[in-house]
Amino acid sequence: MVGFSLLLSVVVAAHVAVATPLKARTPYAVKEAHPIPRTWKPVSRAPGAHMLHMQIGLKQERFDELERHLYEVSHPDHVRYGQHLSQEEVNELIKPSEEGLDLVHEWLITNGVDKFDYSPAKDWVNIYISVEDAERLLDTEYSVFQHDDGSYMVRTPEWSLPTHLFDIVDTIQPTNSFMRAAPQKTDWIQFEEGWTPPGYKPPTNETIAKVCNIASVTLECFNTLYGTLGYKQKAVGRAKIAWNNYLNQTPIRPDIYEFLKLYNKPAAQHAWTFESVEIANGPAAQYTPLTPAQANGDDISEEAVLDAETILGMTWPQPAVSFSTGGSPPFTPDLNTPTDTNEPYLTWVNYVLGKKDLPQVISSSYGDDEQTVPNSYAQRVCRSFAQLGARGISLLCSSGDGGLGGQDDSACFTNDGKNTSTFLPAFPASCPYVTTVGATMAFEPELPAYREPGIGPDGRNHGFYASGSGFSYYFDRPWYQNGVVDKYVASLDGLHEGLYNCEGRGYPDVSAQGLYFAFFWNGTLSTISGTSASCPLMSSIISLVNDARLAKGKSTLGFLNPWIYSQAHKAFTDIVGGNSSSCGTDGFPVTAGWDPSTGFGTPIFPKLVELALK
Ligand SMILES: *[C@@H]1O[C@H](CO)[C@@H](O)[C@H](O)[C@H]1NC(C)=O
Ligand SMILES: *[C@@H]1O[C@H](CO)[C@@H](O)[C@H](O)[C@H]1NC(C)=O
Ligand SMILES: *[C@@H]1O[C@H](CO)[C@@H](O)[C@H](O)[C@H]1NC(C)=O
Ligand SMILES: *[C@@H]1O[C@H](CO)[C@@H](O)[C@H](O)[C@H]1NC(C)=O
Repeated sequence: MVGFSLLLSVVVAAHVAVATPLKARTPYAVKEAHPIPRTWKPVSRAPGAHMLHMQIGLKQERFDELERHLYEVSHPDHVRYGQHLSQEEVNELIKPSEEGLDLVHEWLITNGVDKFDYSPAKDWVNIYISVEDAERLLDTEYSVFQHDDGSYMVRTPEWSLPTHLFDIVDTIQPTNSFMRAAPQKTDWIQFEEGWTPPGYKPPTNETIAKVCNIASVTLECFNTLYGTLGYKQKAVGRAKIAWNNYLNQTPIRPDIYEFLKLYNKPAAQHAWTFESVEIANGPAAQYTPLTPAQANGDDISEEAVLDAETILGMTWPQPAVSFSTGGSPPFTPDLNTPTDTNEPYLTWVNYVLGKKDLPQVISSSYGDDEQTVPNSYAQRVCRSFAQLGARGISLLCSSGDGGLGGQDDSACFTNDGKNTSTFLPAFPASCPYVTTVGATMAFEPELPAYREPGIGPDGRNHGFYASGSGFSYYFDRPWYQNGVVDKYVASLDGLHEGLYNCEGRGYPDVSAQGLYFAFFWNGTLSTISGTSASCPLMSSIISLVNDARLAKGKSTLGFLNPWIYSQAHKAFTDIVGGNSSSCGTDGFPVTAGWDPSTGFGTPIFPKLVELALK
């Protein structure tokens, strides 16, 4: 990256005036400004020829109605419970107004953009446009930003629109979203027999002690702890599960095969046969081992391998699908933008919303600080997740690995120029239309996953890890949390007041194991930790509950939270105590009942099935 400083001085100096937009019915004004997160620094003007896949979110006419349907079909006490909507019914509710769509067409065409395509409901218009043209269209100036970790994105902190489009367009990306959808996995640790973390007490229950080894937690341990051991699937082929890969992560079939051979031998062949769906040039699941360049580079695919091993190991013989989303149009790295900078989240959700037949459980282990995402964009992506829920799909997201935002208070500040102390919620964990999964560790009892930075058993340094926890600043508390989360907040009696939004959506909803998963990767047996591990584990258990329901002629569970908060919380082992300290505080107390560290706790599969069949 030697060229960068040179480029910076030349290009920035050469650029003086912002290009003027061409034509519009009404004058331009700033539609939205979002602060640049402190982890991102502008390094140069964006090259004019760099191509953007721009997604324009139009106001959905009847989203309130869609939300009402979502809650009715997801609440077990409602007569419509389980009567999920079809793709057509959802699209009818979220389409934009004809007039709005016409005005957006007119604006694009008069500005020389005559090629576009749409999401299935036409609530998103996609255009492929150079930075130079985007700067004119949005009366703005794009820059190349570099993250503290070295990666790059092309963004602009603010953008404008003709004022007559203000109430028609909700959001346009990529503009000011600095979200990076990073995998929520913490470091990989070389497995070493006999090692235990400091302070660990082994279980006294012999059944658990026999199969649960804290230094390398296996499928057999999960199955024993959560009661899935010996469950015989009855609707094979009908309940399906999927997971998401972004950022060039791709499942490595030979590693997955070796893992399954060790821990679930009958499932091993599935490593070669599970379906790989590539979206926007995402990489296909790989039949060959990691190459040395992959294993020592950035695209190491640990997350994708972890998701695949957990899900195939827990749910075989269920059909499983790996979604790999790349950027589009095809990305050609150059000096100025060596990494793909398009928005993969929306690309993925619009792709799946366009399909009639989808896996009914989807696990997603990628997220970022909520404050890196503009509110308008977060709202729209979250609403897309509501559409999946209305169609009967359970979307589970990991809660993040940094507790309330990090170990000490050095990271826990607002981004708004005021730099005030705050906890940092994560997105999409904070979206009320997903089920957010935290992580636990140890067995008797399970505790919130928590690890001080230090040296692992393999002599490598590992970072701070605490199960992601918090309250959204963007999303109000959903009604299904009433009587639960408000009670918890009241019990705090002012603790941490001002550091979090006491009226926001609290998360996680539930938890599962998330420390030192047995892991086969790069030809080696090792372990890996994170809410990236707990999310596919919890997703797998939900998919097994779907199997039990489908076998009895019932629908799939769909959006889980109204069911969990009203009834199914009884089918979770409550986690009480343990450490959740983060942001330089002791964290939120981990109490009896729901708490924002472990939610309602960890699953008891036989009870979940019993409640689900009631
Ligand atoms: C030990 O754990 C197993 C598996 O969770 C459970 O079925 C059993 O009841 C436990 N035994 C005792 C004595 O608690
Ligand atoms: C992956 O395996 C290769 C071959 O054993 C080894 O040289 C390399 O260091 C490993 N990469 C990592 C990141 O562990
Ligand atoms: C924010 O405030 C903290 C504490 O005063 C300080 O350490 C940090 O450098 C500040 N950060 C910025 C970006 O101003
Ligand atoms: C949690 O961990 C921190 C950091 O090691 C420690 O200072 C604190 O005493 C611990 N709290 C509890 C309740 O274990």
